[in-house]
Amino acid sequence: MNGYSSMLQHLLSLIFFLSMKVSLAADTVTPASFIRDGEKLVSSSQRFELGFFSPGKSKSRYLGIWFRKVPDTVVWVANRDRPISDHNAVLTISNNGKLVLLNQTNGTIWSTNASSEAKNPVAQLRDDGNLVIRDNSSVNTTENYLWQSFDYPTDTLLQDMKMGWDLKNRRERYLSSWRSDDDPSPGKFTNRLDIHVLPKMCTFNGSVKYTCTGEWTGDGFVSALSNTNFLYKQFLVENQDEISYWYEPYNRPSIMTLKLSPSGFVTRQLWNEDSNEWDELFSIPDDYCGKYGYCGANTICGPDQKPMCQCLEGFRLKSQFNQTGPIKCERSHSSECIKGDQFIKLDNIKAPDFIEVSLNQSMNLQQCAAECLKNCTCKAYANSNVTEGSGCLMWFGELLDASRPIRNFTGQSVYLRQPASGPGNKKLLWIIVIVVPPMVLLPSVYIFCRQRRKCKEKENMETSQDLLAFDITTRPNEFSEANGDRRDKSKDSWLPLFSLASVAAATENFSMECKLGEGGFGPVYKGRLLNGEEVAVKRLSSQSGQGLEEFKNEMLLIAKLQHRNLVRILGCCIEQGEKILILEYMPNKSLDVFLFGM
Ligand SMILES: *[C@@H]1O[C@H](CO)[C@@H](O)[C@H](O)[C@H]1NC(C)=O
Ligand SMILES: *[C@@H]1O[C@H](CO)[C@@H](O)[C@H](O)[C@H]1NC(C)=O
Ligand SMILES: *[C@@H]1O[C@H](CO)[C@@H](O)[C@H](O)[C@H]1NC(C)=O
Ligand SMILES: *[C@@H]1O[C@H](CO)[C@@H](O)[C@H](O)[C@H]1NC(C)=O
Ligand SMILES: *[C@@H]1O[C@H](CO)[C@@H](O)[C@H](O)[C@H]1NC(C)=O
Ligand SMILES: *[C@@H]1O[C@H](CO)[C@@H](O)[C@H](O)[C@H]1NC(C)=O
Ligand SMILES: *[C@@H]1O[C@H](CO)[C@@H](O)[C@H](O)[C@H]1NC(C)=O
Ligand SMILES: *[C@@H]1O[C@H](CO)[C@@H](O)[C@H](O)[C@H]1NC(C)=O
Ligand SMILES: *[C@@H]1O[C@H](CO)[C@@H](O)[C@H](O)[C@H]1NC(C)=O
Ligand SMILES: *[C@@H]1O[C@H](CO)[C@@H](O)[C@H](O)[C@H]1NC(C)=O
Ligand SMILES: *[C@@H]1O[C@H](CO)[C@@H](O)[C@H](O)[C@H]1NC(C)=O
Repeated sequence: MNGYSSMLQHLLSLIFFLSMKVSLAADTVTPASFIRDGEKLVSSSQRFELGFFSPGKSKSRYLGIWFRKVPDTVVWVANRDRPISDHNAVLTISNNGKLVLLNQTNGTIWSTNASSEAKNPVAQLRDDGNLVIRDNSSVNTTENYLWQSFDYPTDTLLQDMKMGWDLKNRRERYLSSWRSDDDPSPGKFTNRLDIHVLPKMCTFNGSVKYTCTGEWTGDGFVSALSNTNFLYKQFLVENQDEISYWYEPYNRPSIMTLKLSPSGFVTRQLWNEDSNEWDELFSIPDDYCGKYGYCGANTICGPDQKPMCQCLEGFRLKSQFNQTGPIKCERSHSSECIKGDQFIKLDNIKAPDFIEVSLNQSMNLQQCAAECLKNCTCKAYANSNVTEGSGCLMWFGELLDASRPIRNFTGQSVYLRQPASGPGNKKLLWIIVIVVPPMVLLPSVYIFCRQRRKCKEKENMETSQDLLAFDITTRPNEFSEANGDRRDKSKDSWLPLFSLASVAAATENFSMECKLGEGGFGPVYKGRLLNGEEVAVKRLSSQSGQGLEEFKNEMLLIAKLQHRNLVRILGCCIEQGEKILILEYMPNKSLDVFLFGM
């Protein structure tokens, strides 16, 4: 009997001893307990461990959290940029609720912010890998965490861990890369939920965008969707408290992470229990197209297309640095938009980044198209809510970072503006070039001829002015008054007539150096006056089929018209069978304006 009871006593004390042992590997730290180098906290179901470690080849000690099964993969580090040089540091929690790392002489190496409201502060390593500080006297809910490691930038997004914006506490949760595999201090790269217009996931190199996904599709972000999507579910929540992204593997006990490497790669990996290795599911950037704006403005990048960088439809190649690298693309036709612009639909792409965009979530696609068409600077539009097919997003300015997602992963549809004068619309361009000027010019002819009776006769050299000495700031009307021409009180323009000799002198005798280009009606030259001012000289070809009358008509019409797309006419020269227009020269205006626009 006695033997039995003493055996029982021994058993009880053994159980007690064992429970003591277990409590050493507890999941909590109180102000009375210390975690020394070599000791660990273990989460309740043994998924995570917290303790001291040395990364890679480093000899320094850090306090970190890792999967118990994968001790080499640290998911969180406390003293990221405060390395400990010895093995004497301890972790505890102060009475005012600060988690502190103390050195041998109780000096603080690292600590969390004070949370002095705590009466009975406890730090706990939760089973999701979150190290939290809470007040053990109050209710045990997420809202009552005084501090949590999930809010503290790390390089690893664990399942159920949120990334994005905690609007209530004005806090951003983001990934921050290690400096190197041996140094957990913050490196160059961060991965954030960019909520500038619509949420997308971007990696930054310092403050510069390094890679960005497209929009949220409901299942994930465009260009960050992979063929392993069936392994996990992704979430994006937007409300007044938060804009957050997180994910969950369907197979709950599995170990999955989203990790930002010191070199800027975001990798989703799954622990393979059989091979005891990480299986890489996805990594971005996975190619050149993944790099932000790699091909340049107004391009579309496609890993499967040749060449990889191509101009978006409606833009043409301006220069190419090399066969595979970035290119320069500009509007196929630089004249401003004209009635008849259309849109072409680009399917399944990653839309351009939201640099200069306008968003209206209550508009539908038809209203969006109409609105975009109204504004010449609107280059493209798309639904803002890809999931629902609703809302309106319009792009202005340069279109950057559009790409075709690898293989056939889901993208979105974007409607790209095609200028009416674009490649598909050459006919319209010619109609504009040929038909518009004479039509527009007609009303002025009459006035011109009335004012310059001598027109009907042979060219009058005596009344010709010297173009070289002309002051282009003189408006035709002012000029007319200065000349004492009081006869015609109408608002009609009076046009100076220049001598061919002076026009030839201004253009260095119509030299090739002065030639700006050649339009349907003939070449255009740049002329220089004595005061240094520049003019455009349009020498109408004799084959243009225009008679003297038509020419005068054109001239006067331009003179009258003050359309923003038309250059001002300064005068003309009709001599020795030459029909020449002298126009205002605007260096910033495209040549097309001189060639066609007028
Ligand atoms: C550090 O603090 C602990 C607990 O408060 C105390 O026992 C220890 O003596 C202190 N060590 C030194 C060097 O002050
Ligand atoms: C401990 O930390 C304190 C304050 O940071 C410092 O003054 C002291 O030198 C450190 N002691 C050791 C042994 O590192
Ligand atoms: C808390 O710590 C963060 C950095 O971890 C710091 O930016 C912030 O200012 C601190 N807040 C207070 C109240 O000290
Ligand atoms: C927290 O409080 C409960 C109940 O008051 C107690 O049983 C438990 O031991 C406390 N935990 C810690 C870590 O102090
Ligand atoms: C708090 O919640 C965790 C898990 O939800 C549980 O293990 C723990 O016992 C709770 N603590 C208290 C004091 O209720
Ligand atoms: C990151 O930016 C730095 C300049 O700040 C540059 O030297 C480096 O090449 C960039 N890294 C990558 C991967 O683009
Ligand atoms: C083309 O450009 C890319 C990026 O600028 C560069 O990596 C590549 O070496 C270049 N190729 C050649 C042939 O110059
Ligand atoms: C968005 O579009 C709707 C419908 O066209 C319009 O009533 C509203 O004013 C627009 N909102 C903004 C901010 O432009
Ligand atoms: C066109 O859109 C731009 C950018 O939103 C805006 O600044 C401009 O005023 C708009 N122009 C017209 C005519 O609506
Ligand atoms: C798209 O619309 C759905 C349904 O209204 C909504 O739940 C979702 O949050 C919207 N997505 C975005 C990115 O606004
Ligand atoms: C592309 O889509 C087809 C049909 O949806 C599918 O059978 C195929 O596996 C996909 N290819 C890739 C590489 O995902």
